[in-house]
Amino acid sequence: MTHSTVNVAASSASYDIHIGEGLLSRAGDMLKGVLPSKKICVVTDEQVAKHYLFDFMHALEFAGFTPYPPVILAAGEETKSFQQLQHIIEKALGYKLDRKSALVALGGGVIGDITGFAASIILRGIHFVQVPTTLLAQVDSSVGGKTAINSPQGKNLVGTFYQPKTVLIDTGTLRTLPERELKSGYAEILKYALIDSPEFFQWLEQNGQKLLAGDPAALTYAIEYSCKAKAAIVKADEKEQKDIRALLNLGHTFGHAFEAIGGYDGRLLHGEAVGIGLKLAFDFSREVGLCPAADCDALGKHLDKTGLMQTPPFKVTANDVLARMKGDKKAKDGKMTFILARGIGKSFVANDVDEAKVTEFLRSRFGG
Ligand SMILES: NC(=O)c1ccc[n+]([C@@H]2O[C@H](COP(=O)([O-])OP(=O)(O)OC[C@H]3O[C@@H](n4cnc5c(N)ncnc54)[C@H](O)[C@@H]3O)[C@@H](O)[C@H]2O)c1
Repeated sequence: MTHSTVNVAASSASYDIHIGEGLLSRAGDMLKGVLPSKKICVVTDEQVAKHYLFDFMHALEFAGFTPYPPVILAAGEETKSFQQLQHIIEKALGYKLDRKSALVALGGGVIGDITGFAASIILRGIHFVQVPTTLLAQVDSSVGGKTAINSPQGKNLVGTFYQPKTVLIDTGTLRTLPERELKSGYAEILKYALIDSPEFFQWLEQNGQKLLAGDPAALTYAIEYSCKAKAAIVKADEKEQKDIRALLNLGHTFGHAFEAIGGYDGRLLHGEAVGIGLKLAFDFSREVGLCPAADCDALGKHLDKTGLMQTPPFKVTANDVLARMKGDKKAKDGKMTFILARGIGKSFVANDVDEAKVTEFLRSRFGG
């Protein structure tokens, strides 16, 4: 079985992302060369456990690992909480994991984010492996080492930068992923095109619908492209200090506000919020004279064609959105930071966006 590899050369660590069909069944062998100890603990969610946990544990045991009983959490964004973090930590300490042991995140971005955070603080850092099973996690959250939980004040406000030892992407897991989750991941793929690649946008115009229909070749190409794009950004600016990694927040300032307003209750998925945010970032860029109307229209048509959500499925007001955006960690010293665009593939970090203009724009969209 062949698979491809993308290297992430972050300043704190270098590691490989392996991408291919059927990697779950080879996970034990692949991890043997990467982890220094056979003591590992898998963290997953109930949904993923139903599909993949048994075979995954078997693959680990077959390769000589001695995995502890897995930690199985509820599926969904609400799991990224202090309470569940404590639960993972207490399990790990109860198992007497040591600094050579590893936590393995088997699941989507929720499991990856909280497991990575736990690994980064247990005994001041134990090893960590990402085995992402959603499209969103395979193209974005499993790569680059951002870990987090949510707090009542907002999303991802508590976390660390902590790189995994490796990332194993089994593209076959996407076959069981619901269509809505696939579309949610697609928004993050589209984000890479909108940041700096009109060519990739053209590819998505040609292949986006095929990809969303589950075409394995299209999915694999887009996953590889996205991992390479993210790896390059992380290499240049691992800790978001140079206005490079921040580009990955395109669509997120608006998106995170909608997610927070929705209360993370499943009505609006992270990627859905990002999709809405991408369109708003482009529309706002047009409103302030940065982005040509033709590019905004092309993006709108692409969202129509691929069936991505374009407005939140609940009522929001401009004041709600503004209040949430100010609480987001992308707001500094009262100024608002947005990723804006001069066109498709021409995004940039704008650190000093005029709040009055944002307010006017949001009022025109959402009222009050
Ligand atoms: N760390 C980062 O850099 C980064 C980047 C982007 C997003 N994120 C975070 O990622 C999270 C969203 O991740 P997500 O979209 O993967 O959500 P998720 O982890 O909640 O997974 C979505 C749903 O799909 C189910 N699922 C997972 N794999 C499956 C499979 N193969 N078959 C069937 N069902 C499956 C899960 O049980 C869950 O119900 C958000 O919390 C977001 O903040 C982090």
